[in-house]
Amino acid sequence: MSRVLIGVGASAACFKAVAVCSALTKAGHEVQAVLTRHAAKLVTPLQFSAVTGVKALCDEWEPANPSGMDHISFARAADLLLVCPASAGLLGSLAHGLAGDLLGSLALAFGAGKPRLLVPAMNPTMWEHPAVRRNVETLRGDGWSLVGPEDGATACGESGPGRMSEPETVCAAVRAALAR
Ligand SMILES: Cc1cc2nc3c(=O)[nH]c(=O)nc-3n(C[C@H](O)[C@H](O)[C@H](O)COP(=O)(O)O)c2cc1C
Repeated sequence: MSRVLIGVGASAACFKAVAVCSALTKAGHEVQAVLTRHAAKLVTPLQFSAVTGVKALCDEWEPANPSGMDHISFARAADLLLVCPASAGLLGSLAHGLAGDLLGSLALAFGAGKPRLLVPAMNPTMWEHPAVRRNVETLRGDGWSLVGPEDGATACGESGPGRMSEPETVCAAVRAALAR
């Protein structure tokens, strides 16, 4: 059993993150979900708690741990950090090391030797924007691995690179990263 920390960004593909959490939990992993405040407008923390059996968090000012420092305790405890879906905005803040919320802080506190995966999801024009390309390269250099995105239909009605990988693909990437 591994401990998977999943950071959920605000994307139309958030529903796929629920399926990823459900599958990883059924496979025997302990899954802790942390949503950005914008993600929590698209899908509730309670939905993630319901499929993982672990209280999902969003607000670092309402901590789960008695110490109050969830960003440190979660980062220490987890074997793998999965950011899924990773919006363009979230890629930008992670690339710049912004610690403006629980997810940003724990991404900085997450040990360099442990696997960290990004699962981007966005409109194809956004994905190809030079600013996003720069942020992705920075993140790769910082030790993040990417899962997708795929080429295909996106929620905005366009087709191209930016579609979030399917939950089975994400779970396979998590399994492979944990096995390494
Ligand atoms: C309904 C809806 C769907 C969205 N889907 C995406 C998306 O798939 N990818 C993306 O990069 N931004 C998307 N956005 C914009 C982001 O939610 C916005 O940039 C947000 O500030 C990102 O927040 P985060 O950093 O917490 O992920 C969407 C916005 C809305 C309202």
